[in-house]
Formats: sequence, C-alpha cells, structure tokens
Amino acid sequence: MAVKMDMIQRPRRLRNNSILRKMVRETRMDKSSLVYPVFIKGGVGIEEEIKSMEGQFRYSIDRLPYKLEELAKAGIDKVLLFGIPEEKDECGSSAFDDNGIIQKALRSLKMQFPEMYCITDVCMCEYTSHGHCGILNGDKVDNDKTLEYLAKIALSHAEAGADMIAPSDMMDGRIGAIRRMLDSNQLEHIPIMSYAVKYASAFYGPFREAAGSAPAFGDRKTYQMDYHNKREAMKEALLDIEEGADIIMVKPALSYHDVINEVSNAVQVPVAAYSVSGEYAMVKAAAKAGFINEADVICEMATGAYRAGASIYITYFANELARYMDEGRIG
Ligand code: PBG
Repeated sequence: MAVKMDMIQRPRRLRNNSILRKMVRETRMDKSSLVYPVFIKGGVGIEEEIKSMEGQFRYSIDRLPYKLEELAKAGIDKVLLFGIPEEKDECGSSAFDDNGIIQKALRSLKMQFPEMYCITDVCMCEYTSHGHCGILNGDKVDNDKTLEYLAKIALSHAEAGADMIAPSDMMDGRIGAIRRMLDSNQLEHIPIMSYAVKYASAFYGPFREAAGSAPAFGDRKTYQMDYHNKREAMKEALLDIEEGADIIMVKPALSYHDVINEVSNAVQVPVAAYSVSGEYAMVKAAAKAGFINEADVICEMATGAYRAGASIYITYFANELARYMDEGRIG
C-alpha cells in the first residue's frame, strides 16, 4: 500500500485538467493588445521576403491591402508602420516629405481601411544616408538639432493620418519636442507611444537588413541604452512621461523581462513590449531546424512578456498569436 502523505497543500490539484488550468491562469491576454509591424517600400507590385525574417515581407503600397485584409480577418487592428524610402540624404528629408513613403501609405491605408489603427515609427535611420537616428555634426549625432527634425516627421505623419506616433530614436527631449509640435498644430488628441526604454541590442540585426538602416559607421550606443542598466530604464520612462508620453515601450522583450516588470510597477501608463526582429529570426531558424516547436515557443515568449507586466505586445507573430488566443492555447 502506498504511503499516505500528510499534505494539506497540493499545487498539482489545480493543474488536473485543462479547464481548471485555464480557470486559474494568472496572466490574461487578448488580441486587442497585439500590434503588427509592417515594412512599406516604394514601387509597385512588391512583396519581397526579408531574408533574415522568413515569412515577413516588404510591401509596396498597392500590395498592402492584401496583408491588411489578412490581419483584419485574424482580428489584428493595429499596425506599426516602418518606411523604406527611395531617397536618402544627410538629414533624412524624405522622412518628413508630404509625399514620403509613410505619408502616402497612410493616406491610402486610411481610405481603404479606416478601422485599422496606424501607429508610425518616428526615426531617421531608415532615411539618412549615414544610417544614424539623427542629424550628424561630424561623427556625432547632434541631439538638439535632431529634435526639430523628429518633431517635423511626427507632425507630417499625424497630418497624413497616423493615429499614434511612436518615436524610436532615443534622443533626449524628443517626446517633449514632438508633444509641443503636435499640440501647436491642433493634434493634441494624437497619443505618443515612446520607445522610452530601448537598449542598444544585437537583436535588431534582421530589422536593419529589412529596413536597410544599419549605421554606415560606428554604432547606436551613444543614444540607445546599455543593457547592463535597469535603474536607467526608470529614469528614461519617467522622463518621457513627464514630457508627455502616453504609453511606454520596453524593447527588446526577450532578455528584458526584469525591465518590463520594474517599469510596469513604476509607471501609471500602459507598458508595451516589442518582441524584435532577432527574436523572430531565432524562433524561425530553430523551428526550421526542428529544434523547437514554433507555436509553443511563440506562446511561451508572448506570455512571458505579459506576465512580466506588458499590456501591449508588438510582434511579427501577431497573426499567429491572435489564432492561438482564439484557440485558447494562451490568454
Ligand atoms: C529604428 C528602429 C529599429 C527598430 C525599431 N525601430 C532599429 C534600430 O534601432 O536599430 C528595431 C525593430 C526590430 O528589430 O524588430 N530606430
């Protein structure tokens, strides 16, 4: 006869079957919190796969509706738009050109998909010939001069129909500069989601291939954060809120759950986590090699970010996650 153990608490009792496991889930998520990043490029009929991001494409504006249709069907109603311009110059002027790629895309998109919520990435690295996220003075990025440009880009996006502005450049004071610019142009209703806590990360590698935005010299360490630091994340987040940020983003997501957690405890605004290109590429590569189960890993990664404290999740796997949430696999 088996020995009868004297135990009052048995944690396994609540793991007995899937109905019960779902009942006691501590982390709840919903596809309304998912945001899908989209790369938009000039030209016609373009739908080109990004080599390092299998399953992700650069779309020309005319091909965008097919993708958006698919997203809408899956229940994704928020996109984060990245532009790949045809022309680059020293000061990234195509970024604030009324006929720039994002501005054109916004106008066409808003006409065809009025229900799709369009967040635009505001940065200069895709638009500058040197690939840095600001205006150069010699080999240094001139912070204060860059602010004028970022504000102009944000204004031009909002005027073209952007629903929300997401600055990712990491210059000091840019949230304030953008907020003032929007407010003085009757755009005080447009929220800002700040890439407030953005680390200088090797996980952005595939994105730079996708957007052609790798710096021509040096790196981004004088503006993006050093990943040894966590207290500094609080400083960045709180500063951006003081300057008017409505949502604070932590980026990347994987490897930064402690930061997501602490930021979400410290602030009283929603916290977004961006699961970046390198996270996507790693999952894809390992799954393709047969080393992991792709769907299971996607679910576990996403849940980790929410469990850490994110309430918005920006991911190239948005489509898949919406399905997994619908199926009750997670959420
Ligand atoms: C632009 C920007 C980057 C990403 C989002 N906005 C690249 C970078 O900072 O080098 C990365 C997104 C990703 O890797 O998925 N500054």
